[in-house]
Amino acid sequence: MTTTHDGVEAMQTFPMRRQCPYAPPPEYAGLRAAGPVARVRFPSGVTGWVVTRHEEARQVLTDRRISTDSSRPDWPQIQPGEQDRAAPRDGFFIDMDPPEHDIYRRMLISEFSVPRLNAMRPGIQRTVDELIDQLLASGRSADLVEAFTLAVPSLVICQLLGVPYEDHEYFQSRTRKLVSLDADPAEATAAVGEIWQYLDQLVTRAERQPGDNLIGRLVAERLSSGELSHDGLVGMSLLLLVAGHETTANILSLGVLTLLDKPESLASLRANPADWPGTVEELLRFHSIVDWAAFDRMAIEDLELGGQLIRAGDPIFVLGGSVNRDDRLFPNPDDFDITRPGRRHLAFGYGVHQCLGQNLARAEMDIALRTLFDRVPGLALGVPVEELSFKYDAAIFGLHRLPVVW
Ligand code: HEM
Repeated sequence: MTTTHDGVEAMQTFPMRRQCPYAPPPEYAGLRAAGPVARVRFPSGVTGWVVTRHEEARQVLTDRRISTDSSRPDWPQIQPGEQDRAAPRDGFFIDMDPPEHDIYRRMLISEFSVPRLNAMRPGIQRTVDELIDQLLASGRSADLVEAFTLAVPSLVICQLLGVPYEDHEYFQSRTRKLVSLDADPAEATAAVGEIWQYLDQLVTRAERQPGDNLIGRLVAERLSSGELSHDGLVGMSLLLLVAGHETTANILSLGVLTLLDKPESLASLRANPADWPGTVEELLRFHSIVDWAAFDRMAIEDLELGGQLIRAGDPIFVLGGSVNRDDRLFPNPDDFDITRPGRRHLAFGYGVHQCLGQNLARAEMDIALRTLFDRVPGLALGVPVEELSFKYDAAIFGLHRLPVVW
């Protein structure tokens, strides 16, 4: 809440935008100080709730009285025109509640298991090394987003799924539309439709000739048995393709920037490489790139949360950017501290929807950042931080471009 000049409490409008590359929107600290759950107004005029503290966020993300199923007819519209924005449904299990959600997620557990990920690490290392070879051969400067941070997760998810990497511009450009805060709902709907159509054809080809990849295995093991439908497989593939590259690309570019801009952290890491895993966690916490974007929920019953009465039908958003700076868990939360103990941040969510790809993302971050700083020791920013182009216009934070020299 903010107090207007005549003393009336005014509800803040959500979402707020970031103004600094190293901090969530400035309004979050005030909201958090006021309480764990705050009432906000959405651009459509609807009112609802945002959750600012860790404990209440975990409650929201594990409470069966809170839904994430945006296909519900009573799902609140928070943006004007949102009713025209079609979301994929079949197989898109991030937007489903249990037990339907669990049917799809269970089919993928073995693909993201620890042994499967350990088996993927040499392939990720090879991909990273080849991209760095190309980077070094290309001259002495580059846009690191295009040449490296977007390419690494795109190549990895393409190899995992069996999507031809030469089509990367097609799915990357449409994903950018999907996460843009400024695209109109019709553009976003068209972008989803185009990725759907592309994967529809790919799955049809895999049905004729299943390859040795995730889509091929699901065709052979689940589609043939009738457990999974064609559209269900298209929707699952769409979720994995979109979630698998955009997020990791953004945290990689912010990770490179942060370490270049904070040379004392980089020097300490070079002296103590055992701190790399902790650095990966701190980058995830500090930047909280997803913030509220995946945490759209709705109360399906009246309930009490953080001292507030939430009514059935009210929208609820968890603010990852605030929760991960909750000083009850993270002392001096605004400091970037690679020696911070523990993995308690909620950058990958919590509960049944906790990120399925989190260990893959961690492996990509660890291998890509460690190898880049080892192999390109003279890496430096090509322009001052103030001149960089940040994604203040996107639901997932990151950098549009990252000019570097070496
Ligand atoms: C879910 C973040 C990388 C696949 C989520 C959620 C978050 C998240 C916050 C929870 C959404 C919710 O509660 O509704 C991130 C971040 C990443 C990342 C920060 C990179 C740093 C990946 C990768 C993949 C992936 C690499 C796939 C290869 C998924 C899937 C879900 C999900 C399938 C839905 C899980 C479910 O509903 O059961 N992610 N993610 N993510 N993520 Fe990630």
